[in-house]
Amino acid sequence: MSEFNYRSNELYCENVKVSSIVKAVGTPSYIYSYKSLLSQFMKLKEAFAEIKPLICFAMKANDNLAVVKSLVDQGAGCDIVSGGELYKALAVKTDPKKIVYASVGKTEEEIKASLKAGILLFNVESLPELEEIERIAKKLGKKTKAALRINPDVKAATHDRITTGTLQKKFGIDLLTAHKILKNRKKYKYVDICGVHMHIGSQITSKNPFISAIKKVAAFIDELKVDGIGLEYFDIGGGFGIVYNQEDPFCVKDFAKAIIPILKKTGLKIIMEPGRFICGNSGILATKILYLKDNGVKKFLIVDSGMNDLVRPSMYDAYHEIVPLRKLTGRKEKMDIVGPICESGDYFAKDRQVNVSLKKGDFLAIMSAGAYGHVMSSNYNSRTRAVEVLVKGNKYFVVRERETFKDLIKGQRV
Ligand code: LLP
Repeated sequence: MSEFNYRSNELYCENVKVSSIVKAVGTPSYIYSYKSLLSQFMKLKEAFAEIKPLICFAMKANDNLAVVKSLVDQGAGCDIVSGGELYKALAVKTDPKKIVYASVGKTEEEIKASLKAGILLFNVESLPELEEIERIAKKLGKKTKAALRINPDVKAATHDRITTGTLQKKFGIDLLTAHKILKNRKKYKYVDICGVHMHIGSQITSKNPFISAIKKVAAFIDELKVDGIGLEYFDIGGGFGIVYNQEDPFCVKDFAKAIIPILKKTGLKIIMEPGRFICGNSGILATKILYLKDNGVKKFLIVDSGMNDLVRPSMYDAYHEIVPLRKLTGRKEKMDIVGPICESGDYFAKDRQVNVSLKKGDFLAIMSAGAYGHVMSSNYNSRTRAVEVLVKGNKYFVVRERETFKDLIKGQRV
């Protein structure tokens, strides 16, 4: 059940009327439901209870400290991709032994910081990176664990820009190379290569590509066993899709049922890295209608959020449901819902049926904006980044202030 529902025609987040929040904090504003974050996390935890995986929240989806802390307090670890995410994960007291680090381009500083923090493992994406980690670990005199990110060459039905598991993409290591590295693993004295990792893409709503990829990697783990190479971890990545529009919901229970036997057979400790599944439907972007415009050919609803606030429609042609905070009845017409930025790609919806009685000053909620929303926002057009609010029961908390003009010139010199 979503935590964003209408009661007497007013949109609520948990027990708080969304319009009361936006009246107090202004728009654009990201609003998250604590209960929804936790219940999505628990859905995964319960479905996989039999194998007790380490669930590392993919911070790239939403790195707001309050959001991350809410999950960490429930036992989640963090999947990080940069020194900045490491810093934030540690700032909310994530157990370093629950942090995994993937990225094709880890810098020396980032590797050093992770070694010093004592993270659980690096998800290594190439041989040169492995050698760099070995070199730095030796210099620091700090041993570490690593998993090889396998590129299983499996195509998943999702947007090309968020597909990662084919050899046309920069991610991971092909099976042949991975096998060679593992055969030679004793050569690395400071990096214990004790796991395999995969992540085939994001917003994948069918369990089949995951099953194919997991089967492929499980077969690889078996091959390794034959060669006397035993491992400790299998990180199956993230990518579990959510409902934005009319997609069939990704059923975690069915997914778990299908893969648990394969995972159990590997005998390895399982890690997973969900991002969107936990926070995607747990947040909205609230915005205000500035103008209605009709050029004789098309009608436009111009709102006070732009592609700098939520880039997904512009970048991936992504669909986000858009609803008024006060539910309306009556006739609808096709309109484009657009932002104020000087780009034709600055839109949230094209030819969307919207209620004709919407007017200047009305508020809208852009739904399912909790993942890859605020984290991908920018200051383009010198626009300040939006405020973030976390709702808990009948209370709400500003968990990141709206940026000010002063923030826009911070560190600049003339
Ligand atoms: N693990 C790794 C190694 C990843 O690269 C990602 C996402 C995840 C886990 C989490 O995936 P999730 O469970 O959230 O699907 N900006 C795009 C999505 C990019 C995903 C990048 N990697 C969007 O707005 O759709």
